[in-house]
Amino acid sequence: MEAVTKNEKETQELARSVLEEAIKNGFGTNKACVFALSGELGSGKTAFVKGLAETLLIKERVLSPTFVIERRYRVINRRCFSHLIHIDAYRLSSSEELKNLGWEALIGSSKNLICLEWPENVSSVVPSLAIRINFEVISENERRIIY
Ligand SMILES: Nc1ncnc2c1ncn2[C@@H]1O[C@H](COP(=O)(O)OP(=O)(O)OP(=O)(O)O)[C@@H](O)[C@H]1O
Ligand SMILES: [Mg+2]
Repeated sequence: MEAVTKNEKETQELARSVLEEAIKNGFGTNKACVFALSGELGSGKTAFVKGLAETLLIKERVLSPTFVIERRYRVINRRCFSHLIHIDAYRLSSSEELKNLGWEALIGSSKNLICLEWPENVSSVVPSLAIRINFEVISENERRIIY
């Protein structure tokens, strides 16, 4: 499916509906639910993660993990997941580096909702069941999101 959002808020609302659909379809029941978020710099990937965090009632501010690679947020109400894990692979150059961060354990737990930006950089370890989302910049405030 495809949507064009006109501001960051709309991208966050789209994230909410994509997550609710994924939960309905049983993503995250056996293994982690993984979102692979692709698109150029500033295309709205982190904005999308903010929408997921809001949906899970995470109160902490979601900041881009570009420099730290990974940030974890605890889900207080634990409706479906206990942690949101946000990884930015922009600065990684091989799947090995992600494995060194404990990737296998992360994707093995159904309690984790994992968001991975720049999955192309670590493509060989992205699970085949990952939900792939593509972001394109149309104009300053418009983003085409394919999901
Ligand atoms: N429709 C829109 N959806 C999402 N973000 C938008 C939209 N319109 C404008 N923006 C702005 O675009 C920027 C998107 O930044 P964001 O950090 O989400 O990008 P990103 O894809 O994660 O980039 P990076 O690869 O650098 O991490 C924000 O400043 C946001 O306010
Ligand atoms: Mg980002």
